[in-house]
Amino acid sequence: MTDEHVINKGLEGVYFTESAICKVDGQAGRLYYRGYSIEELSKNSNFSEVTFLLLHGKLPNNREMLEFNQSMSKERDLPEGMISYIKENAQKMHPMDVLRTCVSMLPAYDAEAYDSSPEANFRKSVRIISKSASIVAAIGRARANKSYVAPDPSLGHAENFLYMLNGEKPRPEMVKILDIMLILHAEHSSNASTFGVIVAGSTLADLYAAITAGAAVLKGPLHGGADEAALSMMYNIGKPENTEKYIEDALAGRQKIMGFGHRVYKTYDPRARIIKGYLESLQTGNSEELKTLSQIAMRAEKLMIEKLGASKGIWPNIDFFSGPVYVSIGIPKELFTPLFAVARSSGWCAHMLEYWQNNRLLRPLEKYTGQLDLPYVEIGKR
Ligand SMILES: CC(C)(COP(=O)(O)OP(=O)(O)OC[C@H]1O[C@@H](n2cnc3c(N)ncnc32)[C@H](O)[C@@H]1OP(=O)(O)O)[C@@H](O)C(=O)NCCC(=O)NCCS
Repeated sequence: MTDEHVINKGLEGVYFTESAICKVDGQAGRLYYRGYSIEELSKNSNFSEVTFLLLHGKLPNNREMLEFNQSMSKERDLPEGMISYIKENAQKMHPMDVLRTCVSMLPAYDAEAYDSSPEANFRKSVRIISKSASIVAAIGRARANKSYVAPDPSLGHAENFLYMLNGEKPRPEMVKILDIMLILHAEHSSNASTFGVIVAGSTLADLYAAITAGAAVLKGPLHGGADEAALSMMYNIGKPENTEKYIEDALAGRQKIMGFGHRVYKTYDPRARIIKGYLESLQTGNSEELKTLSQIAMRAEKLMIEKLGASKGIWPNIDFFSGPVYVSIGIPKELFTPLFAVARSSGWCAHMLEYWQNNRLLRPLEKYTGQLDLPYVEIGKR
């Protein structure tokens, strides 16, 4: 090896593996899961079916869908110990911290936690994807000082989540919106958290350890935490007419506007386009809060595109319009990122299972810039 090290800061442009799960075309603004476009899936499918597609590489037939839904619903209930932990801690920490800890606790309740056969890992994937939704619903209940609602096995994944969160069956249009949000968040190739999952799993740590790592990576505002941060910004802006000055001042102060920019998309994120479409259709509703948020979002988007779209390739990403859409179905702001994790757990598991078929430890290099061969000086003489 020579001293000519090529450093790709932020690993930009670096390929580390092959994958047949997801294609992100950052120039054309297209996204595909297992060959199906995100537009096609969000229009026609639901989260369970997309999860099956990600894990198995094909869409299920009727029998496979039925069996998969049954296996998901069987895994939904939470152990007593975890419910108590959530009650005790949900108001003390950010929900992402509670979720991450709960995922990390799951081996305590799983007899096959350390069985790393592909079959056991597949069953654990279903367990994680299913239970993470119940964990987030339980966190939401505990933060609102309400008691745990047990899952209803007759309900689909999105419907059951809203039922466990609110204690009542949701309206079908709420279920539809949540299903679409879950589909849009389910997968995105080698994003930071998926890479984090694979780094952990490449050491042959178990699936729970790998997914815990993913939850830790997702939390940050440069990644999954951007949805919560973008909505906080909209609340800080307060009134639609304040939008332009707020954004101009923030950019002048070299602040980043959350929900804009992407490492791969140098054009409009197709997921943001779909979510914006839903937000536009919601504007006709009669919630003043929602109308205000929508107007702020639209004005901010217009200004950002004018200023940074073509010139710097900074466009809205999935996290910008998500907040107001979640508000429309009554999801509290601190649950946005945990809900992102609930959806992304599908992609995380699919990638981990795929990578383990041909595992190699991930271990990049860093270029050392410090000194060498320094003499050791006794502590009293320094
Ligand atoms: C997503 C993100 C981390 C990608 O980062 P990246 O590829 O490493 O790009 P950088 O952070 O190096 O940014 C490159 C340039 O664009 C600017 N930029 C990037 N995102 C910006 C944003 N949201 N608002 C304002 N400027 C932004 C940077 O300030 C930098 O400008 P400079 O060249 O003058 O220094 C970045 O766009 C960002 O921080 N966005 C906000 C957080 C967010 O929405 N994350 C969710 C992503 S799905």
